[in-house]
Amino acid sequence: MAAERILVVDDDAESLSLIGSVLERQGYSISKAYNGLMALDRARTDAPALIILDIMMPDMDGFEVARQIRSSPATAHIPIIMFTAKGMTEDKITGFEVGADDYLTKPTHPAELLARVKSVMARSTTPRISKSASSTVKQGSIVVFVGAKGGSGTTTLALNIATAMALSNKAAKIILAEFCPGQGVLGLLLNVPTDKGLSHILKQEHPDLSFQYLEERLVPQSSGVQLFLSSSQPSPSDNRLTPKLAVKLADALATPGAVLLIDMGSGLNEHKRWLLPFAGQTVVIVEPERVAVLRAKQMLGEIKQMGIDSTRLSAVLINRTPTEHTVPPEQIRDALQVPLLAAIAPAPDLAIESMASGVPLIMLHPDSLPAAQIIKLSEVLLERLKATGSYAASV
Ligand SMILES: Nc1ncnc2c1ncn2[C@@H]1O[C@H](COP(=O)(O)OP(=O)(O)OP(=O)(O)O)[C@@H](O)[C@H]1O
Ligand SMILES: [Mg+2]
Repeated sequence: MAAERILVVDDDAESLSLIGSVLERQGYSISKAYNGLMALDRARTDAPALIILDIMMPDMDGFEVARQIRSSPATAHIPIIMFTAKGMTEDKITGFEVGADDYLTKPTHPAELLARVKSVMARSTTPRISKSASSTVKQGSIVVFVGAKGGSGTTTLALNIATAMALSNKAAKIILAEFCPGQGVLGLLLNVPTDKGLSHILKQEHPDLSFQYLEERLVPQSSGVQLFLSSSQPSPSDNRLTPKLAVKLADALATPGAVLLIDMGSGLNEHKRWLLPFAGQTVVIVEPERVAVLRAKQMLGEIKQMGIDSTRLSAVLINRTPTEHTVPPEQIRDALQVPLLAAIAPAPDLAIESMASGVPLIMLHPDSLPAAQIIKLSEVLLERLKATGSYAASV
């Protein structure tokens, strides 16, 4: 296994080489930066597994470096240890506020430095994407749907958006994937077998992740949508879907010119924290009730902290039940602070009919109000993808 790379940032050459040699002796590979700008550049190009960051540097101090590292999607997840002569509580607080994971005060015994490095790296459950993964994932062709709560209509929306995109754009490859092994729903919904997609891949210890191989695992629909399904039957191999594998799969499926839509279920978890930085668009589904709005607000706050801004992040309101006791859209907009792209009208009868027949609502009743809203939303999402990512090469 290649040595994990640590970026050490210090304007003092002596202390830089001292820290570097302590870590090198332990088998880490070291990148060095002598100032803030160089640190930002190295963080982007060297994809370090950890950054040890001095605070007091001329031009740009460590706090500003940390702030910028946290605000860029490519580097937002790299753990940071602030390393400084300053031992003031105020500085420590600022350090944590700008996103440091730990704090060391100079002078530190090499053994303590090593212990902190190991513990931060072990504790860091946030993604550390390898350089090759981060440069190949085709951000811009991936749309992630995630519900603020379970049962909000996330799967229904993802399926209907994919169908609308495929029907209106026959030339494009539209793939709808679910990354929830053992808990797949789409196959049951559409009456197609669920065992040849993700669950099949996970049964192999060293799965082939080439697109050619994955293409054979897709289930085509009459609309043109290609499904990459999860089995609805749990299996012991389900836990092989690590966040890293999910990113690799998304990367392999999102070939140029394709749009990969992923139904990610509800709430945030490690898989989502890894995948979201690669999505050209993340759509949070919210229902107009107080708890759902609160959860959506929390989730969106966390996603924004990952460096994903509102050009790539939005919400869609789904009204599943016709009732007057709902939170008004203006209030939802105020609470969420991201673009609210659509408010889908309630259609309980059509939703049930669609489930009973296994045909997506927009194909079953293309002239209904929710179908018109979903078709419009699919156009808006494609526009947003074009503005934010690499989509549209061949469309
Ligand atoms: N606009 C709508 N009007 C009425 N019912 C709807 C609407 N959209 C979806 N539904 C219904 O709401 C229920 C939940 O939808 P769905 O399974 O898509 O939600 P989900 O968020 O994916 O749920 P889960 O958390 O289980 O994954 C389904 O019965 C679906 O048919
Ligand atoms: Mg679902």
